[in-house]
Amino acid sequence: TSTKKKKSLYSLYKGVYVPSNLHHPQSLQNYEDFTFRRDDVIIVTYPKSGTTWMKEIVPLVVSRGDPASVETLQNWDRVPWLEENRAWDLELENRPSPRIFATHFHYNMMPQGFFKVKPKVIYVMRNPKDVFTSSFHYYGIASFLVHPGSQGEFLQKFLDGKVMFGSWFDHVKGWLNAEDKERIMYISYEEMIMDLKDSVTRIAQFLEKPLESEVIEKIAECCLFKNMKQNKMSNYSAAPREFLDQRKSEFLRKGIAGDWKNQLTSDEAEYFDSVYKVTMKDVMYKFIWD
Ligand code: A3P
Repeated sequence: TSTKKKKSLYSLYKGVYVPSNLHHPQSLQNYEDFTFRRDDVIIVTYPKSGTTWMKEIVPLVVSRGDPASVETLQNWDRVPWLEENRAWDLELENRPSPRIFATHFHYNMMPQGFFKVKPKVIYVMRNPKDVFTSSFHYYGIASFLVHPGSQGEFLQKFLDGKVMFGSWFDHVKGWLNAEDKERIMYISYEEMIMDLKDSVTRIAQFLEKPLESEVIEKIAECCLFKNMKQNKMSNYSAAPREFLDQRKSEFLRKGIAGDWKNQLTSDEAEYFDSVYKVTMKDVMYKFIWD
C-alpha cells in the first residue's frame, strides 16, 4: 500500500518527485513558459534549507526595511514558488520589479526562459544532516507528503533521493556547477545563524541595495527566529490543519544549526558521513559544516 500512496502523492517531473497536489501539470507548464525579467530575484533551495527565512529577508532588503513588505501577504504569496499551482492565480506579470520568487527546482530543471534572461539567484544551502532532521519532522505533519516511516527508513530514502525534489546531493552539486555564477549568491543557513547582520549586508550588496547599518540591524532583528515566529504572515499559522498538522511539530520548529546531533544515532551519523564523503568527493566548494 505504501507504493500505492507514493504514486498518488508524488509525480515524477524531469526525473524528481514533486508533490502532485501542489504541482498540477498545468502549473509546471506555466513555469516552463514563464517570462522572467532580468531583475527578478529567485530564492532557490532544497526543501528545509532556509527558504522561509530568506522569504523574510529579501523583501525587507528590497523595501529597505519596510515592515509592510512582510506583514501584508502570507509568505507563500509574498514570494511564490514558481512551480506551484498557487503562483498562477497571483498575476505575477503585473507585479512591479524587482519581483521575488522561490523555487525548489534543480539547476537542470529550470525553464528555458531562466537561462535566457539570467535573473539573480540566491541559493541557500544547509548541513544535509540538519536538512534530514528538519525534513523528518516535516514529513510527519504534511498531508501532501509520503509519511516518513521510521527514522532509519526515511534516512535511506533521503540518501537515495527518493523524497520530494529528489536528492539533496544532486540539488547542491547542480547549483554549485551552474554557469554565470556572478548572477548567483551562495549562502548557507549556518552563516545566517552565525552572523545574520553580515548575511543581510551581503544579500543587500548582491541585490545592489546598500543599506545603512541601522536598517541592516532592524532587518536582522525582524528575521530572528523568535521574532519571525510571531509574524502571522510568516509562521504558517494560517496553513489549514488538514494540510499541515502543527500540533505535532511546528513549521518554525527549532531554528538552530546542529540539531541532527539530537536526532541521528551515532551509527546513522557515521553512515550519513560515509555516503556524503563519496558523493561529494569532487565538490570544491568549502562548506561551513565540513
Ligand atoms: P528546523 O525544522 O530545523 O527548525 P524551509 O523554509 O526551507 O522549509 O526550512 C525550514 C527550516 O528553517 C526549519 O528548520 C525552520 O525552523 C528554519 N527557519 C525558518 N526561519 C528561521 C529563522 N528566522 N531562523 C532560523 N531558522 C529558521
